[in-house]
Amino acid sequence: MSTILRRLPPSEATGLRTGARHSLAEVYRPADLVVLGLGAMIGAGIFSIAGEQAATTAGPGVILSFMIAGIACLLACLCYAELASTMPTSGSAYTFTYVIFGEVWAWIIGWALILELQFAAALVARAWGAITVGALANFGVRVPDERPAQDFLVLVILVLLTGVVSLGARVGLRALWIMVSAKLLAVGAVIVVGLPHIDAANFGDFFVPPQTLDTPPATVLETLIGEGQAFGWFGIFAAASAIAFAYIGFDIVATSAEETVNARRAIPQGMIRSLVIATVIYIAVGLVMVGMVPYTRISEQAPLASAFQAADLGWMAHVIDVGAVLGLTTVILVLIVGQTRVLFSMARDGLIPRGLATVSRRYHTPTRVTLVIGAVAIVLAEFVPVVPLRELVVIGTLFAFAFVAAGVIVMRRRMPDLERGFRVPLSPLLPALSLVATFWLMINLRMLTWAWFVLWMAFGLLVYLVYGRRHSLLARPRTEPARPAQGGRHRR
Ligand code: ALA
Repeated sequence: MSTILRRLPPSEATGLRTGARHSLAEVYRPADLVVLGLGAMIGAGIFSIAGEQAATTAGPGVILSFMIAGIACLLACLCYAELASTMPTSGSAYTFTYVIFGEVWAWIIGWALILELQFAAALVARAWGAITVGALANFGVRVPDERPAQDFLVLVILVLLTGVVSLGARVGLRALWIMVSAKLLAVGAVIVVGLPHIDAANFGDFFVPPQTLDTPPATVLETLIGEGQAFGWFGIFAAASAIAFAYIGFDIVATSAEETVNARRAIPQGMIRSLVIATVIYIAVGLVMVGMVPYTRISEQAPLASAFQAADLGWMAHVIDVGAVLGLTTVILVLIVGQTRVLFSMARDGLIPRGLATVSRRYHTPTRVTLVIGAVAIVLAEFVPVVPLRELVVIGTLFAFAFVAAGVIVMRRRMPDLERGFRVPLSPLLPALSLVATFWLMINLRMLTWAWFVLWMAFGLLVYLVYGRRHSLLARPRTEPARPAQGGRHRR
């Protein structure tokens, strides 16, 4: 077998938890995983992207966009659940791909996950800065110059959250429970207060007639049909791809597998439960938003608040502000956690410098890699215009979804006897549908996003050829034992 296609033996992936290589402390129980998933999901997607998509792309049909993206994500989630229950490791899709398809594909997925997690952390931090300055203004605290204030706040939140993640999963978990509970209360208030103010007339015809845009075709699909379109079915599908951002996070639950008690069963449950709860919340909030006000009056800057203002419930803006600030805080926190676990796994395999796989004896957490990730997030958020890169985050995530779905099909054939804590029903039909749904969402993304994605991947491949291929643990002679970088095993 060509070196770049060498595969990690399943025993190496599954053996992580039985002492074959060092592992992290077990801290997560089933309810914690649901909190982790909700912590990562309910954020910018529902607080801002949903309204923006309703106003510009899908109208009230944004509810259907949420359903379409939700179904696609549920299919992907079932596939993730099977692989995570078979290989409960921190590397998640990266490690699954290593075992099933080989090293170069694993690297490519790891590189796509960096795009998902590292860039998302930076861009959600940026959105957090803008929302926090807006919230302060709503509470009467005016800042003289918005941009420097935002820059400062973004720096503070990233330093703070990087610190929390470095101090160990237990500290982060406690903070997460508190903040997720508070944001769920805020979202619950949006639903309960908003529901009686829904006017069915605002739903109108769910399908706002399609409009041909003056601008040239932007998405792959539009390019295929030769014209740019908004609203109608095209708009609903295009919005579904943008809204997939809101669902990013259930997949991060899989990266906590090595720190989860009884991971083979708990991870699939945690992923599926958090995704179902988030989907119900999204659809309920979406119904309230487009039901309270005609979609043409939804403000792109403050969509939920504008809907409540139109119903003379302006005071709800404060509740929404608190929910959004806390919501985005937990999203950044879990994104950083997920990114540390993936990079930690890649470092442990030698594909990036192995020193990054060091586990702190004091905090039982990969502190070194956490600090690197925090620093990179700060640089990205402060100096790179990350906000327009949202679609890039989505395409990286969907790319990993595709490999996971294909992985289920291939693994059932190649390794039918491996222990599985969860099996996707109706396989290979559902994994095949997952592939189709993922591909469909991907072709509803912009050509420009694809071009940047191809460039990012090509750069990643170069990094692998120059570094990872030679430093991989699998490149070592078999007699040399695969030792942990340092840190070793530690008490649980
Ligand atoms: N799902 C996360 C959010 O919506 C990334 O902010």
